[in-house]
Amino acid sequence: MKIIKVENLSKIYGKNEAKVIALNHISFEIEEGEFIAIIGPSGSGKSTLLHTIAGLEKPTEGKVFFYDKNIYEMKKKELTILRRRKIGIIYQFYNLIPTLNVQENITLPIELDKKKVDRKRLEEIMKFLNIENRKTHLPNELSGGQQQKVAIGRALIINPTIILADEPTGNLDSKSSNEIIQLLKKANQEYKQTIIMITHNMEIAKEANRIIKMEDGKIV
Ligand SMILES: Nc1ncnc2c1ncn2[C@@H]1O[C@H](COP(=O)(O)OP(=O)(O)OP(=O)(O)O)[C@@H](O)[C@H]1O
Ligand SMILES: [Mg+2]
Repeated sequence: MKIIKVENLSKIYGKNEAKVIALNHISFEIEEGEFIAIIGPSGSGKSTLLHTIAGLEKPTEGKVFFYDKNIYEMKKKELTILRRRKIGIIYQFYNLIPTLNVQENITLPIELDKKKVDRKRLEEIMKFLNIENRKTHLPNELSGGQQQKVAIGRALIINPTIILADEPTGNLDSKSSNEIIQLLKKANQEYKQTIIMITHNMEIAKEANRIIKMEDGKIV
């Protein structure tokens, strides 16, 4: 079954001399359970595409369907709930809350949803990411790679239907990168989570089932 359908998507920022066409009439579909890698040069529109699929960035033109629903036609509240419960997003620049410690950052989506935190799952995730000995540290007390892991934990805690990851290994050494990829693969294979992952690393992209290449806001 199709989980994501993107139809004639365009995103234009600014106008006149400042105009940037970040996405230029993109269409594609993703089946449930796929593990997709998006590659392409810096500025080609990868993050913009991911944010548009996540419901975070309204396109200038075109549609994004989550199953059979056009997400930009949903009521604000409905879209918020979809994002909180079904979409796990790992941001390129982490977006951690500086005043919350590691476990509070990871459980934030659950707290925002006013649900009870599954402590066992939280412990499992922190253990897997090898940050359980940093539980009460604040983001500014962590290395870049550790912050990246917290951002990943925060996406996984909700047990999402789809994981959108923007360079999840961008700041990790090759050993940690490999661990993260194995984790994502496990999420994909065992929990049937659909994954869309941006990467600059061709070795990592090869771990995916399909590679989408972007250039100047288009799929090539
Ligand atoms: N909020 C914004 N306002 C104006 N222009 C923007 C904005 N966000 C992105 N852009 C522009 O849109 C284009 C695509 O940006 P995007 O962040 O999607 O690229 P990217 O492929 O993710 O690059 P990178 O690999 O460096 O992360 C770039 O030219 C960028 O300057
Ligand atoms: Mg980017």
